[in-house]
Amino acid sequence: MSVQNAMTADFLRSAYGGESMAHMRYLIWADMADKESMPNIGRLFRAIAYAEQAHATNHFKALKDQVGDSTVTAGAVFGAGKTVDNLQGAIDGELHEVEQMYPVYLNAARFQNEKDAERAFHFALEAEKIHARLFKEAQDAAKQGKDMELGTVYVCPICGYTVKDNLPDACPVCSAKKEMFKQFTA
Ligand code: FE2
Ligand code: FE2
Ligand code: FE2
Repeated sequence: MSVQNAMTADFLRSAYGGESMAHMRYLIWADMADKESMPNIGRLFRAIAYAEQAHATNHFKALKDQVGDSTVTAGAVFGAGKTVDNLQGAIDGELHEVEQMYPVYLNAARFQNEKDAERAFHFALEAEKIHARLFKEAQDAAKQGKDMELGTVYVCPICGYTVKDNLPDACPVCSAKKEMFKQFTA
């Protein structure tokens, strides 16, 4: 199924842009956390960067028939400071997606009966809720000048669902089998 409605196509392009930038930004901030001797926070950034790649991929593929150039306007977060501040940027970006962007995009896709977009936006919305919480945990440690406690982080390659320590048998969001999850181990 291709995307039929211009509004949903615009939202997919914008979400693709936002996820692509989040992916890159988290890799940059991961290296910065490593340099501040916070390798677990660095690893959390890398795991979540991978989840954002999954989201960008879903949005891109939902636009498969929308061939051609576009100028994309997308939410961006800038700042390359201390890890504690970078984490605030991460929290703000995730909360924007959870509270405003994805609920609006998801409702538009439902209203326009765009099934691929609905799936892609639903997957992202569920993962961003978890990301906001994990970044808050990381920031609580960083505020005390410490690295966070972090076991293995697992990320679903289909929907970006992110979980630490205990991997469920199947993804609770998209039902992918646990063998498919990508592991980020210390
Ligand atoms: Fe995302
Ligand atoms: Fe996220
Ligand atoms: Fe999943």
